[in-house]
Amino acid sequence: MTVTIVGAQLGDEGKGGVVDIYGEDVDVVARYQGGDNAGHTVVFGEDEYKLSLVPSGAIRGKVGVLGNGCVVNPETLFSEIDALRERGLDPRVKVAERAHVILPYHRVLDGIEEKAKEDSELDAGTTGRGIGPTYEDKIGRRGIRIGDLLDPDSLRSKLEYVVPQKRALAEDVFGVSASGGSSGGSSDGVSTDEAFDISSLYEQYRRYGERLAEEEMTVNAGAYLTERIEADENVMFEGAQGTSIDIDHGIFPYVTSSNPTAGYAATGTGVGPTTVGRGEVVGIVKAYLSRVGTGPLPTELVDDDEEELADEIREKGGEFGTVTGRPRRIGWLDMPMLRHAAQVNGFTGLAINHIDVLAGLGDLQVGHAYELDGEEIETMPTTTERWGECEPVLRGFDGWSEPDWADVASEGYDAIPENARTYLEYISDELDTPIYAVGVGPGREQTVVVESPF
Ligand code: IMP
Repeated sequence: MTVTIVGAQLGDEGKGGVVDIYGEDVDVVARYQGGDNAGHTVVFGEDEYKLSLVPSGAIRGKVGVLGNGCVVNPETLFSEIDALRERGLDPRVKVAERAHVILPYHRVLDGIEEKAKEDSELDAGTTGRGIGPTYEDKIGRRGIRIGDLLDPDSLRSKLEYVVPQKRALAEDVFGVSASGGSSGGSSDGVSTDEAFDISSLYEQYRRYGERLAEEEMTVNAGAYLTERIEADENVMFEGAQGTSIDIDHGIFPYVTSSNPTAGYAATGTGVGPTTVGRGEVVGIVKAYLSRVGTGPLPTELVDDDEEELADEIREKGGEFGTVTGRPRRIGWLDMPMLRHAAQVNGFTGLAINHIDVLAGLGDLQVGHAYELDGEEIETMPTTTERWGECEPVLRGFDGWSEPDWADVASEGYDAIPENARTYLEYISDELDTPIYAVGVGPGREQTVVVESPF
């Protein structure tokens, strides 16, 4: 069967930990969108693993597949695989031949465009990993796919077509020199010299192709996964980012350039939607909100008297970007956002994380609805501009004090403080979806599993 894991909010809901906790029952973990903009932190015993591209199931020795809907930076992929090998793990990763490749010019252009937007309201606060520019090239039918890295002639002819366009874009549109020095804004300082040089790109990416072939890492993802599902194996689709930063269903334009929502688990892997739909879709919810990028956030804790509380939650929850290290913005749980997520994704279960972070903070609030033009609404308006005009209608909850979370994790759901259970059950009732798991700390053993979706 299949289980699809989807972020219900703005990313960083703790999906990696949930994928990992259910991982015991999984044979294959497949990612269906995004690239190395994702950050998963998986804590296993004393060890912490930070991954951005390799599916988190790899820590458990499962097969990890990067589906055709992903954008793959081979440099990140190999450096993560090498780092895991150095730590004694043997990650088995397969990459769809139909997945698109992030090239250095994508990262440079991502930085250039973000810099150009920095003083406007359009700045999305991207991770600088070249995600948007790579998806643009995919949709523009000028992208380079993993399959092209295995075919040097195809790689060269595609680079010869596309690189001059990218150079012209950098120079003529953005006025940034595409030769010499480092880029005008790429967060990782990719040299523009190399980023726009056809020969050096060809040599470097052809070598990546050779390594992919040598390690037998490339695959027809749809055929591979379908075969595994037909052989009665368990496949988990691991969504990256979250519903509210989905390119179609999120707070455009402050979104990522792919579809984290459950429907894309089919398109982004090549497994039929009926197969995905026969499985479970688990929404991962953080018990409050955090946001790494820009844009409105109706329940954000920003008033002078709320800053201290936001700082406390940020510190306690480790709310700093896994990929960028940026401090995350903090807000109360936003129920209209979750109702929207439940509708778009069709959740069959919920995993609610970080309830430990809210312990000891006193009474809590939740954005139960919004007020917009004098009316109360229970879900998100379709435009981000209107969303920015929403005032939260807050509902108060009694807080809970800090128990020994390790005991709670081992004793189970009933050991969760009563007020926290009231809070959890409110979320479950509002979304009409059962709770499958509750995260009470960052470690693998700090999750209360109520029910396994497998
Ligand atoms: P991009 O995905 O790097 O293009 O960034 C677009 C938007 O998505 C920005 O607001 C990022 O902060 C946000 N974003 C991308 N990946 C993640 C993630 O894994 N967690 C949270 N936000 C993300």
